[in-house]
Amino acid sequence: MITEYAVMTEDHIDEDAIRRAGEILKKGGLVAFPTETVYGLGGDALNPESSKKIYAAKGRPSDNPLIVHICRLEDTEKIAREIPDVYYKLAEAFWPGPMTMILNKSDLVPNETTGGLGTVAIRFPSNKIAHALIEAEGGFIAAPSANRSGRPSPTVAQYCREDLDGRVEMIIDGGQVGIGVESTIVDLTEGRPTILRPGYITMEMLERVVGDVGIDKTIIDGTTAARPKAPGMKYRHYAPKGDLTIVEGNPEEVIAYINQKTAEAKAQGHRTGIICTDETRNRYSADSVKSAGTRSDEASIAHELFLILREFDDENIDIMYSEGFDESGIGMAVMNRLIKAAGHQIVTVRDGKVTKSAMPLRRDIDPKWNEA
Ligand code: TXA
Ligand code: MG
Repeated sequence: MITEYAVMTEDHIDEDAIRRAGEILKKGGLVAFPTETVYGLGGDALNPESSKKIYAAKGRPSDNPLIVHICRLEDTEKIAREIPDVYYKLAEAFWPGPMTMILNKSDLVPNETTGGLGTVAIRFPSNKIAHALIEAEGGFIAAPSANRSGRPSPTVAQYCREDLDGRVEMIIDGGQVGIGVESTIVDLTEGRPTILRPGYITMEMLERVVGDVGIDKTIIDGTTAARPKAPGMKYRHYAPKGDLTIVEGNPEEVIAYINQKTAEAKAQGHRTGIICTDETRNRYSADSVKSAGTRSDEASIAHELFLILREFDDENIDIMYSEGFDESGIGMAVMNRLIKAAGHQIVTVRDGKVTKSAMPLRRDIDPKWNEA
């Protein structure tokens, strides 16, 4: 298959290309497109054959359900049943925007789209290109992130091309996305709203609208035998090709540890990379030192994280260290993705002591973690 490329911006939408893309989707084809979070790999959510094609193009296990993207709130009633009031409260507060809600599905949604589940994930994105495309398609686009399964989600079209060229009919290049990590997923099917995947819409923001909000235990507990309720959260994910370790603890000790390990790896002939922040950028030496942003604005780190992981691959970096980040606010989403990318390799250095763990140690003392 030859993939068609269309370039546009949210301010200058190429209506002809959007119309062609809508036709492709209606006929059961696939189109990759920008959203405000990451690029999506879209197909007709109501056509089981389209969903099968999405799984094949992504190389994704078919028990991992897809998110249905809508562009009109009232369309919810077509694809969901037993819609609780909190759905409309959260929609009013955060849609269009980077949040996905899980409801019980109607018969209109094929099992292929929901990975066999009786529930459906619904998202109303704010990106204007995404909005125009959903409208052109007729209202319901199933779209996982537009990466091959296991790879970091694309935040620029170049990495959609790398993963999907020849596998989809069209890729819409809308530039670098605004947010950089996937939407917050909130489950509304079991009473208390529960976060299944952290994202830009934080727990604090949700609680301000609906009161108490829970969090899936598997997000914060590396040792639990429980299965994540979002099936996709169980897979290794976002992985760069090389070996990544997160280093946390006393800042001076973190810097010293990362520099020492990087020097050792270099001496063994590895190509080394470091993920740090503007605050520490000039304290490091490696083949590639990248600042993800500033600690005073963790959204800046979310914006760059996946891009950096992809760039390290382009630069053939095979040993990587990253500073750990604060887990409050959007930091929870950043650390969730980073921990998966690192395959849960975390080192804490404090008071001369080096401790290895699968989850950040400081979680043990935060009451919110324990009560979850
Ligand atoms: O920001 C986003 O959400 C992006 C853009 C493209 O919209 N999409 C995205 O989709 O991240 P994907 O497929 O890469 O991740 C969807 C996650 C998976 O972990 C999946 O298991 C979970 O949502 N999910 C989907 N439907 C679900 C359901 N009915 N119940 C529980 N989890 C569900
Ligand atoms: Mg994904």
